[in-house]
Amino acid sequence: MPIADGPAVNQLAGLDEELETILTSFDSSYAWNYGSVKEGLRDLYEKAKRDQWNGTTQLAWKTDVDPEQGILPEMTNPLKGYAPFDRLTDKEKHRLRHAQIALQLSQFLHGEQGALVCTAKIVETVPWIDAKYYASTQVMDEARHVEVFAKYLDTKLTGHYPINAHLRMLLDDIINDSRWDMTYLGMQIMVEGLALAAFSMAHQTTPDPLLKQLLRYVMSDEARHVAFGVLSLKEVYDGMTDAEMKDRQEFAFEAAVRMRDRFLQQEVWERMGVPVKDAIELVMQAPQRQVFQSMLFSKIVPNCKKLGLLDANDKWLRTKFTELGVIQFEDFVDTGEEYADLDEVAKDREAV
Ligand SMILES: [Fe+2]
Ligand SMILES: [Fe+2]
Repeated sequence: MPIADGPAVNQLAGLDEELETILTSFDSSYAWNYGSVKEGLRDLYEKAKRDQWNGTTQLAWKTDVDPEQGILPEMTNPLKGYAPFDRLTDKEKHRLRHAQIALQLSQFLHGEQGALVCTAKIVETVPWIDAKYYASTQVMDEARHVEVFAKYLDTKLTGHYPINAHLRMLLDDIINDSRWDMTYLGMQIMVEGLALAAFSMAHQTTPDPLLKQLLRYVMSDEARHVAFGVLSLKEVYDGMTDAEMKDRQEFAFEAAVRMRDRFLQQEVWERMGVPVKDAIELVMQAPQRQVFQSMLFSKIVPNCKKLGLLDANDKWLRTKFTELGVIQFEDFVDTGEEYADLDEVAKDREAV
């Protein structure tokens, strides 16, 4: 074809290099019963329709962002106090900091794409029509999240890092599992629980008004997504055998281990020439890591508890989470703070 030499085709060739496909196998379902199946799902669907937002027009993209200065505060830098880091020049420190922040936001970006693919899968596999309705709104939400993180990285920082190997393995595990509830458990309970904790930490600490606004809008959607997971799985898990529950407990534990490993930020240390062993030791000890870990489990543990996963099979998952560093299970209560975030964004939207 004569058009083969044109610029549009060259661009497509470039896209191919960055495209990856994986073969999956799962049952797609039609739900011929159009009645409401799960109490609460229709309400959530109504909220999702009401709370759609436009990342192009509603975020302050004109804000100047200096990637070398304070997008996330220095106190969250685990290398602070590490002698070889302290010896770097200011310019080198800023470069390293920029790399750390770009890496972290890149993982948010890739996680969002994982969520986009997983929720499209949920639309196909979930056996209830009202869950298909709701999941379809989440597909739109996740597309918007991918869009805004990609735009922030491309226009305000210097582009994105590749996906972290541990996050990639976690997404693959979730996407490859043919059981529909595992997509929910992996994505809606574990990954989204982690995302809410990570976004809320970054939201509280970033001095950049654009990133703060972006995270606030994204978090208002994520809170709904976690609620969707809990609502959908609760009764299904109540009816499962011990062996079926054990499978889910193991899946949740493996997901938690992959999530812990992804926070080692190995790619940054390698790229910046910091000895990986030293860097990992520092990351493991850094106080903000412990704060993060407790935030992470503050979302995931109560939801696993609600689903009966924490204590099934002689408290198997509770014991495993203890080994990962969770120490206070009983203090976690569902405060409904996710919905407080939703209300905050609704007010913000009315003010625009
Ligand atoms: Fe998302
Ligand atoms: Fe989400």
